[in-house]
Amino acid sequence: MKIITVASLKGGIGKTTTALYLSQALRSLGKKILLIDLDQNNNLSNFMIKQFPKGNDLNEKNILNMLKGYADISNFIWESNDGIDLIPAKKDIKNIDVEFATDPILGLRFRNDLKSLNYDFIIIDAHPATNTGLRCSILASDEIICPVEPSVWSSQGIDDIESERQNASKAMKNEIKLRALISKCTLKKAEELKPILKKKGYQVFQTAIVNSEAIKVSNDISEFLNEKTGKAFPMFLSLAKEILK
Ligand SMILES: Nc1ncnc2c1ncn2[C@@H]1O[C@H](COP(=O)(O)OP(=O)(O)OP(=O)(O)O)[C@@H](O)[C@H]1O
Ligand SMILES: [Mg+2]
Repeated sequence: MKIITVASLKGGIGKTTTALYLSQALRSLGKKILLIDLDQNNNLSNFMIKQFPKGNDLNEKNILNMLKGYADISNFIWESNDGIDLIPAKKDIKNIDVEFATDPILGLRFRNDLKSLNYDFIIIDAHPATNTGLRCSILASDEIICPVEPSVWSSQGIDDIESERQNASKAMKNEIKLRALISKCTLKKAEELKPILKKKGYQVFQTAIVNSEAIKVSNDISEFLNEKTGKAFPMFLSLAKEILK
């Protein structure tokens, strides 16, 4: 099992999009996925909850209640029939800083709970600020995917995540991996940015998630991408294959 956090301190850069459609691509390759929302905006939850025809009680089965540890983690999972399960967030996830301010082992507990589950991949959509949720998610992870967009490129966007990664790797005595995913741009811009990131010492996915109307539309209507005819799905399939290498 691999635990992946999709993280960037930049908003609107494609974190939730990556978490969702990478999960779709991994599922199409036969992998079993758990998606977790740790963002205060709950965008991933809003998208995913629409995919569950049978009602689950969001007031009970959500990530904040899971982290509070009142019951086994399995009690908080929304089980689907199609290979992508969910632990959603609701607005009260913003209380995470207050609830856990004095709990230094939250990340370790989170990782141990996740590792007890039976999935190929656990993919976490993180909050775009260094709050307790982002830190705990990085601590629990094997790998971080950091979407980077050339038009708003500044070293800050990925450098802050890199410093969180270094601290978390030391704390966990486990080398957490970080890879940049160039997103929301033209192929030309992506090719220009790749060597700049590499020169700074970052690992960069060969695959870039370029601007795509199909991605925007699918997001807007909370639907997964068309796997047969769509032009966007092959990008996520290629990303999934890089991850599986
Ligand atoms: N490759 C793409 N092509 C076109 N539109 C995209 C692409 N990736 C993301 N978008 C659009 O950009 C917007 C922001 O994407 P997304 O919600 O994934 O970003 P985010 O980093 O999760 O944002 P936030 O920080 O608010 O959580 C969405 O409307 C989404 O549909
Ligand atoms: Mg998001």
